[in-house]
Amino acid sequence: MKRILIFASGNGSNAENIIKYFNENNKAEVTHVFSNKADAKVLERAINHNVKALHFDRESLYKSNDVLHIINDADPDVIVLAGFLWKFPENIIAEYPNKIINVHPALLPNYGGKGMYGMNVHKAVVKNKEPFSGITIHYVNEHYDEGGIIFQAKTALTETDTPEDVASKIHVLEQKHFPEVIEKLLFS
Ligand code: GAR
Repeated sequence: MKRILIFASGNGSNAENIIKYFNENNKAEVTHVFSNKADAKVLERAINHNVKALHFDRESLYKSNDVLHIINDADPDVIVLAGFLWKFPENIIAEYPNKIINVHPALLPNYGGKGMYGMNVHKAVVKNKEPFSGITIHYVNEHYDEGGIIFQAKTALTETDTPEDVASKIHVLEQKHFPEVIEKLLFS
């Protein structure tokens, strides 16, 4: 069975969706969920599904190999960033080339980079009256949102869509596509 490890910062609806998807198809399993926030809802969701839930602080992520050692012990086939808002550390990227992927709530290369996450992205998209937005699933490298693109899906926006409306449309795309893209990557 292939092993998936997830990093997430907050709510964790994507993380939970991925956990459930692979619980049902039995081809892979989410073994660990890591968060930079001790009280993140994603940790509660992981525990409810009997997935190991771990919390770390800045010091242990960026100034030590503590998190890397736990990852190495878990021996993941893929590391998934599902709403992880900190920059991913270079020591982990260096050891897992082409094995770390992220979902971004916009059509990269537009609306990416530092500070472009969650509602900030949707507010900017609405402000610019974009006719479309979407999701990008991409490899993670040492620059925010610049790794190779694996998959994109698009959704039409209307002139009356609020940032919350855009977030809901993006959420639908993420729930539909993210687990399938992970599965394809694992078995291609
Ligand atoms: C998702 O929409 C994801 O695309 C976004 O955060 C949300 C997390 O939702 N990620 C980023 O903005 C990364 N730059 P969730 O916690 O409910 O899965």
